[in-house]
Amino acid sequence: MLASRRILLIIGGGIAAYKALDLIRRLRERGAQVVPVLTRAGAEFVTPLSVSALAGHKVHSDLFDLTDEAEMGHIELSRSADLIVVAPATADLMAKMAHGHAGDLASTLLLATDTPVLLAPAMNVRMWQHPATQRNIAMLRGDGIGFVGPNEGDMACGEHGPGRMAEVPEIIEAIAARLGGGRLAGRRVLVTSGPTHEPIDPVRYIANRSSGAQGTAIARALAALGAEVVFVTGPASVPPPEGVTVVRVETAQEMLAAVERALPVDAAIFAAAVADWRVAHAHDRKMKKTAGGLPALEFAENPDILATVSAMGAGRPRLVVGFAAETHDVVENATAKRARKGCDWIVANDVSHATGIMGGTENAITLITDEGAETWPRMGKAEVAARLAERVARAVG
Ligand code: C5P
Repeated sequence: MLASRRILLIIGGGIAAYKALDLIRRLRERGAQVVPVLTRAGAEFVTPLSVSALAGHKVHSDLFDLTDEAEMGHIELSRSADLIVVAPATADLMAKMAHGHAGDLASTLLLATDTPVLLAPAMNVRMWQHPATQRNIAMLRGDGIGFVGPNEGDMACGEHGPGRMAEVPEIIEAIAARLGGGRLAGRRVLVTSGPTHEPIDPVRYIANRSSGAQGTAIARALAALGAEVVFVTGPASVPPPEGVTVVRVETAQEMLAAVERALPVDAAIFAAAVADWRVAHAHDRKMKKTAGGLPALEFAENPDILATVSAMGAGRPRLVVGFAAETHDVVENATAKRARKGCDWIVANDVSHATGIMGGTENAITLITDEGAETWPRMGKAEVAARLAERVARAVG
């Protein structure tokens, strides 16, 4: 699928630049042609000689190289590619892109092109989380720039959090998806994510601790495989992934309506932590403290979205996946839940407080299918998502 596709690979300055060398090899193994560009900072981490030897192509690094200009001008260089990939994409390079700077070869190429661009950011966690970087990312997303990663985890600088460059297989999948050849290309997948908010009155609601991190990572991983993803999300604390259709809802009832509107799909992953109950008669005015005692709340049962979709006859997705957040007897409870809900797979996890999983960056899951229970080692939520997306691709790809 990557055969004879031409990729302009810009290698920015960061410790993750070493992964770019492997990326070049893997892309060439798949038949892609890689034209490398090394920034001045990038050349502090990997040498032009290694890059050009692996790419089998001259490495470009200087805007004012007369030989280069005579052979192929920088404008043409940027336009002759099917895709421009920046890996690692540093905070500095993204800032230059967002603001239209063209002071060196890499930023000039990125400004002079209308070729699709995919960024694999890599930086220290504080740099990633800095409002300036987040502003730049939002601008770049608005400009249609694609992103893969960054992942959460331990960083070369000794800190922990988002900022690690995506792994080479993830970048390859994202490239393939961007070029229209991912394994889930042409497949439509629904993902629910986040908590729901069930109003008590206009200012108060019942909620839960779901951050939406795992559902978001799953949606991102499915999109990276080329799926058309409809992402129905409650009010989550992590931002939705790019490259998916985001449908924002608040309550379980709204989530069910949005899910029904999104059908038909090939696969549906229900990662949302949906409130089981809502307040039967939410007040339309703020409830006041009264001398007459404490208010009583009457509850009503929410629709079970997973069970509803699993029970559909015609129009049921080929694969329906539910989650089971358990605090004890995880496999037994999740196996029973799979039967009760009528779904195909259950992704079970132990959310007892001591695991730190709910709202955390890691997950330890057991996948329950008709073949039994399969326990995965504890890993980052992005890795869980990539593995799960891989399984979905095997099932419906
Ligand atoms: O019954 P329980 O809430 O443990 O089931 C969890 C699974 O069911 C998750 O996949 C969740 O998204 C889904 N669910 C749902 N609608 C509900 C409750 C749970 O889709 N009302």
